[in-house]
Amino acid sequence: MNEFKSKIRTIQWIDTYSRMVDQTLFPYEFKYIDIKTGQEMFDAIKKMIVRGAPAIGIAGAHGVVLYAQELENENLSREDFIKKLLEKADYMATSRPTAVNLMWAVEKQKEIIKNSKSDIKGLVEELKQNGIKLENEDIEINKKIGDFGSTVVPKGASILTHCNAGALATVGYGTALGVVRSAFAKDNSIQVFADETRPRQQGARITTLELTMDGIPTTLITDGMCSYFMKKGMIDMVVVGADRIAANGDTANKIGTYTVAIAAKYHNIPFYIAAPLSTIDINIKTGDEIPIEERSHDEVTHINGKPVCAQGVNVINPGFDVTPHELITGIITEKGILRPDYNKSIAKAFKNQ
Ligand code: MRU
Repeated sequence: MNEFKSKIRTIQWIDTYSRMVDQTLFPYEFKYIDIKTGQEMFDAIKKMIVRGAPAIGIAGAHGVVLYAQELENENLSREDFIKKLLEKADYMATSRPTAVNLMWAVEKQKEIIKNSKSDIKGLVEELKQNGIKLENEDIEINKKIGDFGSTVVPKGASILTHCNAGALATVGYGTALGVVRSAFAKDNSIQVFADETRPRQQGARITTLELTMDGIPTTLITDGMCSYFMKKGMIDMVVVGADRIAANGDTANKIGTYTVAIAAKYHNIPFYIAAPLSTIDINIKTGDEIPIEERSHDEVTHINGKPVCAQGVNVINPGFDVTPHELITGIITEKGILRPDYNKSIAKAFKNQ
């Protein structure tokens, strides 16, 4: 149990730099790149070389270590070092706006910076060790999410998922796909329906790739097809990841998730979110306060560099939508499955941390 064939490790700290899978190359190549400066990490997050809320959280934590290593070479006073590093950390947290794991992980590094009593060298080492700790914890948390989630997967279930909330959206194992992996380990008759997930096609390019690598039966469908298969009785449950969850359970996830949730409600199909507590932003009351990333129009107007529409047409491209808490059957976390009333169950999960 809890092992997976492909053993994908999306991001890993190696001695003085961060190594990550380049997700812009999928599904053609599976290649690692080494990120050696803070600015390179900022760009890697922004350009989605690394993506998925928990993975970009760890990337942000690594990015702060990279900045710390650079500043260490500048012969600054300890006071100036800390001032500049906190500025760099805040900058790193702006590389993408919606996934709160990024701000959460950078904040964890800022706590070390503010509270450390060490000299500069010692502080850089503390940040490095904290980055490695957060990285390893991510996999353990996902395995717990997987174990809790597997208890609500019916025997032989067909599970619909949207976007990619797998090993490749985390350090390893995955959140929504962690649930799939743990369920598959108990019952290899389950199968996955993967939404293509326009415009960036994370479902087609990434989810089908990693599930196929693990030998988990997967059927690719386009985004508009989910209600058709629900009506036919071919979907037993939905499990998706999350980029930010408000205190009342409203959940931001990849654009198109809200449509899937409405369709699931109409067809009486359980709709679960799988995410670590670090994806819950208890500082915001409802999903209305979640900042939604507006992405490049080229993602909509082009596929593989080729235009797919009339030149000059108007385009809007929000990267995420917010599923209202009323549509969510449960939120699967490392502390168990949270149920409505989410204001209460989320507050309780945070209290027991
Ligand atoms: O824009 P991305 O690819 O970083 O977005 C990721 C998602 O929205 C995924 O759906 C995922 O569920 C959240 S990360 C586990």
